[in-house]
Amino acid sequence: MRKAMTLITNGFIWFAERFPIMKMWREHMSEYYAPKNLNIWYYFGALALVVLVLQIVTGIFLTMNYKPDAELAFASVEYIMRDVSWGWLMRYLHSTGASAFFVLVYLHMFRALLYGSYKKPRELIWIFGMAIYFCLMAEAFFGYLLPWGQMSYWGAQVITTLFSTIPVFGEDIALWIRGDFVISDITLNRFFALHVIAIPFALAGLVVAHIIALHEVGSNNPDGIEIKKHKDANGIPLDGIPFHPYYTVKDLFSVAVFLLIFAVIVFFLPDMKGYFLEHANFVPANPFSTPEHIAPVWYFTPFYAILRAVPSYSWLGNQFGGVMAMGASTMILLFLPWIDRSPVKSIRYRSVAFKLLVAMFVICFFGLGYLGMEQPTPVKTILARIFSIGYFAFFVGLYFVSKYEKTKPVPERVNYK
Ligand code: HEM
Repeated sequence: MRKAMTLITNGFIWFAERFPIMKMWREHMSEYYAPKNLNIWYYFGALALVVLVLQIVTGIFLTMNYKPDAELAFASVEYIMRDVSWGWLMRYLHSTGASAFFVLVYLHMFRALLYGSYKKPRELIWIFGMAIYFCLMAEAFFGYLLPWGQMSYWGAQVITTLFSTIPVFGEDIALWIRGDFVISDITLNRFFALHVIAIPFALAGLVVAHIIALHEVGSNNPDGIEIKKHKDANGIPLDGIPFHPYYTVKDLFSVAVFLLIFAVIVFFLPDMKGYFLEHANFVPANPFSTPEHIAPVWYFTPFYAILRAVPSYSWLGNQFGGVMAMGASTMILLFLPWIDRSPVKSIRYRSVAFKLLVAMFVICFFGLGYLGMEQPTPVKTILARIFSIGYFAFFVGLYFVSKYEKTKPVPERVNYK
């Protein structure tokens, strides 16, 4: 045993003399000073990282038995579920992981709104974050076609057809994405390539860039104060504590709680009553029979509701207005650092008007999310229009409120009890 330990230690020393592992450890862990007042909202970044790894690992195992062929795809997923050892677990971990990823990322983004984490000097962290978010949406969209069920097929058909509403080049763009006039085996093959290779690579690279950018400027905190303003004689922030061991332990605790909840869903409610795995997707894709009700998975429904809320006009290429509104509703988030002009970061010290705007945004987002899952009726369409207006009104309101609001005095040092 002692001999083995000596061998491992010597091996590590050999490695560390040739690779800056200790320097990286110090810079990003043991000597990275994070504000000491980080709260529960700061768990979700680390948890998103855990889910990213989970998705990659379970994805690799699924790929070992999945067949990206329109004739075989659906049956290969059934084979994974019924015959492959632990295949059902890999699939449910992966499908539940997709929804968990979005839950965590939405909470993570909302935290940035609460504490103004996207403001100077953290705009680039936000930009990388938004790039991650767009990649995540693409990853989920491409992945959803792979089981080749009814909703996979018709969902992809609806979304790719939306591109054809773009004036002049629309039809060509839709054709280019699908590789065919309708969703077909060709589409399945390319979506598979994008889902397992291209997007995961981009995601991993962007996450690394996101964290490098974060560590360059340091974490924000629930008070929205720059801890680097007050340092001791050794240059260490007075309100900072080393990330390791303090936050590694805290994050590990959150991972345990998260995995507990995650396991309950995976083992007892993997389809989440149709919210995580839609019931129509247990039927093989049939290009000749449209499902009664086509709706995307819950994480896309707020934007889908905005798409449907905009009336179709033939002079506007029918759904083009809706497509533009849907695109704008996601793109606008990218500009938050410049829309929100208040020098005060944290919601703790901001005006009632700002708090009301945030509350309105949350209500509209949830309202749209619900309506996007439902069959449209005249009343629901009107509600969707009201919530869509509310959604965009938040950004317009923020632009003005953030300029003129009366904020509370921000303390010099963080609040920590
Ligand atoms: C795969 C997805 C993502 C991963 C793994 C990830 C990871 C992280 C981690 C580990 C942190 C530091 C801990 C924390 O603040 O929670 C962080 C901070 C941050 N992330 Fe992300 N992130 C992801 C997606 C996003 C997205 C989509 C956005 C926004 C569009 C975003 C915006 C931010 C911001 C603004 C911070 C700084 C927060 C602060 O210091 O207050 N992230 N991220």
